[in-house]
Amino acid sequence: MTEPVVIGSERSEVGLPAAMEILLSGGSALDAVETALRRCEDNLEDHYVGTGGLPNARGEVELDASIMIGSSRAFGAVAALKGYPNPISVARAVLEKLPQHALLVGEGAAFFAQECGFATADLLTDEARRLWREALGPSVESVEGENTAAGAGDEAYRAASLELVRRLAPHDGPWGTINVLALDRSGELVVGVSTSGYPYKYPGRVGDSAIAGAGNYCDLRYGGAACTGRGELSMRAIGARAVVERLALGDDPESACAAMLTDAATLPDEFRAELRTLALTFDGRHGGAAGQVGSVYALMTATSAEPEFRARRVV
Ligand code: GLY
Repeated sequence: MTEPVVIGSERSEVGLPAAMEILLSGGSALDAVETALRRCEDNLEDHYVGTGGLPNARGEVELDASIMIGSSRAFGAVAALKGYPNPISVARAVLEKLPQHALLVGEGAAFFAQECGFATADLLTDEARRLWREALGPSVESVEGENTAAGAGDEAYRAASLELVRRLAPHDGPWGTINVLALDRSGELVVGVSTSGYPYKYPGRVGDSAIAGAGNYCDLRYGGAACTGRGELSMRAIGARAVVERLALGDDPESACAAMLTDAATLPDEFRAELRTLALTFDGRHGGAAGQVGSVYALMTATSAEPEFRARRVV
């Protein structure tokens, strides 16, 4: 029998105790990962995931999430999903109920969520709206109220939002996505990722979190990996898959993560190239790396009373 382990990126500690409770009672890594991420998505203090997540340039919260199973490499994901507070559950439903597909986006993802009976909610909290207005300043005036019809205002909106995206850089400190990676007693490994994405992104922008191989990858022969930070960079580096390839070559998890980030850092990027990654192997070894000093990941094993924090290697 495998010893259960769960790890997660910064701010996943809100969900890890619930995940470990499931794993200790013999529950599945799939349930553990979904439960942990739902807790994070429901955490109104967190402005990078679920309800309370920072909106796109138009003030609409658009969520990306994915889940991948190590033994089958089955993958389910949603992207640019509006109005549903728990995208990780919709991603799981894609995996389980729509196996002929792996990724649904936008309106189609919302239609599927409705068909599955998921509850809707207003995801833009007062605090997230305040942060959006503060960050975008006067530009908000030119984008608010221009959400649907094409017309004179649409041109102004496009100019304003392009200008915004050009000048926006991610916040200091950990931002974006939450990763949760769990190994259950049966030896199954699952990786889940959930995010509200790049703050004030261009509407319709999808990041690495919903893309298999980029933000999320899991192969039970070796291990699983997930990324946070600049998704456009992770997509170009096929970040999570690259980490797992290093595990397959025999790297330890921390070195595998560091090798991927070292490669990604060679890519030209006019925006800040901050990317972080985590890995958990089929036999419970774990590690992480980041381009930022002070970045940590959270860990719970069968003997943990509460989440512990481990430093990531700085690349
Ligand atoms: N890594 C999250 C994002 O870029 O959306």
